[in-house]
Amino acid sequence: MVKDSHPLTRLFSQLRDHRVTIILASFCSVMNKFWDLAPPVLIGIAVDVVALREESFLGDMGWSDPRDQFLILVALTVVIWVLESLFEYFYAVLWRNLAQTAQHELRMSAYKHIQDLEMRWFSEQTTGGLMAIMNDDVNQLERFLDQGATDLLQVATTVIVVGGIMFYIAPEVAILAIIPVPIIVIGSFMFQRRIGERYTRVREEVADLNSLLNNNLSGITTIKSFTAEEREIERVRAASETYRKANQSAIRLSASFVPLIRMAILFAFTANMLVGGWMALDGRLSIGAYSVIVFITQRLLWPLTRLGQTFDLYQRAMASTARVLDLLDTDIGIVEGDVSIERVSGDIEFLDLGFSYQGREPVYKGLSLKINSGETLGIVGSTGAGKTTLMSLLMRLHDPQSGSVKLDGIDVRDLTLECLRGSIALVSQNTTLFPGSVRDNILYGKPNATEEEVLNSANIAEAMEFIRTLPDGWETEVGEDGHRLSGGQRQRLAIARAVLKDAPILVLDEATSNVDNETEAALQRSIEKLSKNRTTIIIAHRLSTVRNADRIAVLDSGGITEMGSHDELIQLSGLYSRLWAVQTGVA
Ligand code: CTP
Ligand code: MG
Repeated sequence: MVKDSHPLTRLFSQLRDHRVTIILASFCSVMNKFWDLAPPVLIGIAVDVVALREESFLGDMGWSDPRDQFLILVALTVVIWVLESLFEYFYAVLWRNLAQTAQHELRMSAYKHIQDLEMRWFSEQTTGGLMAIMNDDVNQLERFLDQGATDLLQVATTVIVVGGIMFYIAPEVAILAIIPVPIIVIGSFMFQRRIGERYTRVREEVADLNSLLNNNLSGITTIKSFTAEEREIERVRAASETYRKANQSAIRLSASFVPLIRMAILFAFTANMLVGGWMALDGRLSIGAYSVIVFITQRLLWPLTRLGQTFDLYQRAMASTARVLDLLDTDIGIVEGDVSIERVSGDIEFLDLGFSYQGREPVYKGLSLKINSGETLGIVGSTGAGKTTLMSLLMRLHDPQSGSVKLDGIDVRDLTLECLRGSIALVSQNTTLFPGSVRDNILYGKPNATEEEVLNSANIAEAMEFIRTLPDGWETEVGEDGHRLSGGQRQRLAIARAVLKDAPILVLDEATSNVDNETEAALQRSIEKLSKNRTTIIIAHRLSTVRNADRIAVLDSGGITEMGSHDELIQLSGLYSRLWAVQTGVA
């Protein structure tokens, strides 16, 4: 799809599967309005009957008795009202369901697409911004389909039908009635532009206010610990006040719109009354026709007063549609390969890696590292040295700018993501737990695991004991991101989850940093057992965590500077041995 074609065109092509519904719904909207405009004509005919009796319009059609004429009129009225109501029901059902379906589909495709985008893209986005697209923008479209589309169609129908009737009855009068319409349409459009700017400000202010509230609520501990409540109230007050002011300025303008339109309609109405009235006095216009004209001009009023609002709805929907569709058009940077390894043995090789985050200094300057299948490798290095990044490159959360990463001798770019990521169990430095029970969170690693497997992994992760002491045991809710658990408890659930995944490669990135020494020692023993038949990578600042690894790599200034077993590295008297001395208090 071409990005710069009109959002409406893009929207239609997005909704092409619902073409039939759109056409049907539009038809019902138009028909509803059409019949809705009939009563003034019926009134005109009734007046005509009273005034002219046998010579009336209906009389000319063959029903000479005026009493019969009224019966026919009543029958007509009933039919018309029933038709109007039926079409109203159908257009409401069709448009509203379409709006809900379109909203649902758009949200789902946006979410699916977002999930596939690479980490680099995410680092350029804010959660608030993405939420706004998936909620507000998608909802905006729903509001337009729900109401705006019908409004636009019905205004057009009104102008055409009313204009048509008038031209039929009295062309001179019709011109007077139609003159204000283009002025009102153009005026509404310009008005909407101006108010649009003010609404944009309102939206910006509410976004600021929301992100402030959001931040404060999740950071409430920090606020309390700094006794910053007063300061925060002041900040929220200021943001809320700016929001209120922005709204007030929009209200001032928008409130003047309907009265202005009413004045414009006044012109059409009085002109018709006057010119039509004179024509009726002169006998050039029948009484019935005159009534029709006077009543039907009224019908122009309401749809036109809504025009500004409808344009507004339309503009917002188009802006939102463009944002959502732009998101859907964002290229997925990480393209997966099609090779799938039957049984991954866990040989990993980083070859002459060069990588930098966007706009940052390079993290590696030609880093090479080979990890043998079944080996346990410790990685240490100062904070920010690039340990976590190395694992991101292994999992293809990013791709390196130069060099390559290989799994079992195959470039990871050639593998399917299912094969690559499926063969790595990661306990990341920033574990995320999901709202749900303790059991749900462990099962995340392997949704179809048996009870025995779940218990076994909780055992290995040293999590059994604390799970038992929780109020609802395995069914205890962990809260948003596990905030109802301690840091160490969260980590152990994350380990259990990774253990349950039972992948050929296990990566522990600061996975035991939050547990006490005793628990860590216990965890180490179980991890050692676990690492027997798989490649294990342990990243840690606490050197005792990696001490027993087969080999330890020291990551420093963009490359591996030292490599060997704990004893060998101590012998080397390099960075590792200095760190060891500091940590054990020997220095
Ligand atoms: N970095 C970045 N953008 C990111 C993540 C990291 O620019 N999205 C930078 C960091 O500022 C750091 C470098 O990349 O300078 C390496 O980060 P990382 O691999 O996370 O470092 P670690 O060695 O894992 O550091 P720590 O021990 O603190 O976890
Ligand atoms: Mg890290």
